[in-house]
Amino acid sequence: MSEDIGLFEAMYTQRALRYLKTDPVPDDLVRKVIEAGIRAPNGGNSQQWGFVVIKDEATKRIVAEHYPATARPNHGEATTASEQRAADSADYLAQHVMDVPVWILAVTRHPGTDIHNGASIYPAVQNMLLAARAYGLGSVLTTRVRRGFEPQIREAIGLPDDWVTAAMIPLGWPQDGHRYGPTTRRPASEVTHWDRWGNQG
Ligand SMILES: Cc1cc2nc3c(=O)[nH]c(=O)nc-3n(C[C@H](O)[C@H](O)[C@H](O)COP(=O)(O)O)c2cc1C
Repeated sequence: MSEDIGLFEAMYTQRALRYLKTDPVPDDLVRKVIEAGIRAPNGGNSQQWGFVVIKDEATKRIVAEHYPATARPNHGEATTASEQRAADSADYLAQHVMDVPVWILAVTRHPGTDIHNGASIYPAVQNMLLAARAYGLGSVLTTRVRRGFEPQIREAIGLPDDWVTAAMIPLGWPQDGHRYGPTTRRPASEVTHWDRWGNQG
């Protein structure tokens, strides 16, 4: 385990790792991952976030009961090999919820329904993913909780009414043969528009 990793190396190789070992993750590392999360930018620095560390069997069992049946997040069916790999890997994680040593549930409190209102939680989640990457821990941003079992998880953890769930992040050591590496993305030139939409220099 090394945290001496360059920022750009971390960003370029921080891919979703969903094939995780059951070996425990020390609480100290979980705390360090959250320490990275709370350094993130957030609206007005109001820091309306909370991170629930889920390790106990009973809560995980609730997740395991509902997670697999909840729809995947992708926009329709997989159309590329990369999307299919992500879908297969997401299904693997869904079938192995109980194997994940730690889940971090990121929750937030916000006043509106517009996309930006709850957005402050996601930079914190990304910071945590990068910290996990630096520690050699596997992780991925998941959102099935939003679509499938929010009421059940709220009750299990005693979440106050004015807080909402945003993401669940599994943390675990990558299984053999699964490691961080370059992500597959469309080139920046395809998605960059200079001054006007469609002006791609
Ligand atoms: C908003 C958001 C929601 C996501 N939801 C899930 C999810 O519910 N389950 C899952 O396994 N992965 C989820 N992912 C992870 C994506 O599938 C992953 O980032 C994408 O496939 C790219 O993977 P890569 O970084 O390994 O290339 C989500 C990612 C984002 C940003």
